[in-house]
Amino acid sequence: MAQRETWTSRIGFIFAAVGSAVGLGNIWSFPFQTASNGGAAFLVVYLAAVFLIGFPTMMIEFVIGRRGESNPVAAFKSIGHGEWSFVGGLGVFSSLVTLAFYSVIGGWVLSYIVGSLSGAYFGDPATYFGSVSTGNVAIAAHAVFMAITIGVVAAGVTGGIERATKFMIPAILILLVGLGAWATTLDGAAAGYEYYLSPDFGVIVDNFASIVPPAMGQAFFTLSLGFSVMIAYASYLGRDDSLPADGGAIVVVNTLVALLAGFVVFPLLFATGGVEGAGGGAGTAFIAIAGAFGTLPAGGILGAVFFVVLLFAALSSAISLLEVPVSFVSENYGYGRTTTAVAMGVGIFLLGVPTTFGTSWLNFYNDVVFNLLLPIAVLLLAVFVGWVANTEAIDEIELGSSFGPSFATGWLWWVRIVVPIAVIVTLYLGVDSLYSGIVAGDYF
Ligand code: PFF
Repeated sequence: MAQRETWTSRIGFIFAAVGSAVGLGNIWSFPFQTASNGGAAFLVVYLAAVFLIGFPTMMIEFVIGRRGESNPVAAFKSIGHGEWSFVGGLGVFSSLVTLAFYSVIGGWVLSYIVGSLSGAYFGDPATYFGSVSTGNVAIAAHAVFMAITIGVVAAGVTGGIERATKFMIPAILILLVGLGAWATTLDGAAAGYEYYLSPDFGVIVDNFASIVPPAMGQAFFTLSLGFSVMIAYASYLGRDDSLPADGGAIVVVNTLVALLAGFVVFPLLFATGGVEGAGGGAGTAFIAIAGAFGTLPAGGILGAVFFVVLLFAALSSAISLLEVPVSFVSENYGYGRTTTAVAMGVGIFLLGVPTTFGTSWLNFYNDVVFNLLLPIAVLLLAVFVGWVANTEAIDEIELGSSFGPSFATGWLWWVRIVVPIAVIVTLYLGVDSLYSGIVAGDYF
């Protein structure tokens, strides 16, 4: 078998993992989830979910990946617990389904870059959204987005993924800081910051059950957890890396990008009418943002910059979603990387086509992943690492780390008890809402 590639450096790994984490979830979904769940109240719960549950869960995937040193399905076997391989398989399946609709949204972003430069959405943002989000335009843009993703993955771990993310992540940060500085000059800036940053703790207490599931789902999704992606990426990691230090850096940068996106989006929305109507789902966010850019001076150029940032973020995440099934199939069945990337990419493209029929299809794909597949995978991973492979896990956490044994033990007990309880509550509420949606005919 061919020698496995490894990251050329620790920084290469961090860039790629940050590339996976930073995506549509941070720049598009986070501000709008915040807008539909009460502003700063949501932010507080979300940050707690990221640091208290997301960070320890990232360590779970890192432990399995580095110890397993292979694709996410084979990893369980090489740790000596082949009967748990289905958990890795579940993540691979979720990656396929997620990429199918993620790429469709990536296609919308491409259309919005074009629309910003041509001014096509300035007059009537809602009609523009309708014309690019469904039908042939959406299918064509989805195909272009998927083709770029396939190209990067086919080029390999170091030549493709590492190189692309090393360029895109700094670009995202620089452009977002620039847009955030511009947003301070908007008329709505003060009202936007107020809504975004002054939490009303009464709102959190009153709406606990409706805020927690989206906050937890968003935390897992934004950190790319439950999809076997971090297992796959950590498998290319060297023995001398500190898992907690790398994970901490990734979580912090990812959170910074989401916070920065809020500093752009909230002033923008409040400059042109507030958050009313912006948090209603997939399309409303695009319509609200485009509507705001369309009415501001130099809005077309700045809108194009915003959507380019979104495109880079979406691409670096899509790459990770394709890498997982590709590394699994090519390692397991011995096919070449390029052949596998093309074949799987075309399959995923076809799986995504139904979500161009209408946003209710897209919501269905999204909710199945968020409310069902993702929490189940995280729960199984926590039980596996906490109770089954716990000795190996402690070893891995301590290897290359300067945090000491009490950190590892504290983490283990957290993973054994707190993470599963939090995920079970989320799963229960999430399945309940998915089921009510199906019964009420919200999707079909
Ligand atoms: N973390 C990405 C985002 O926030 O958009 C989405 C994502 C990428 C989820 C990769 C899962 C994944 F495996």
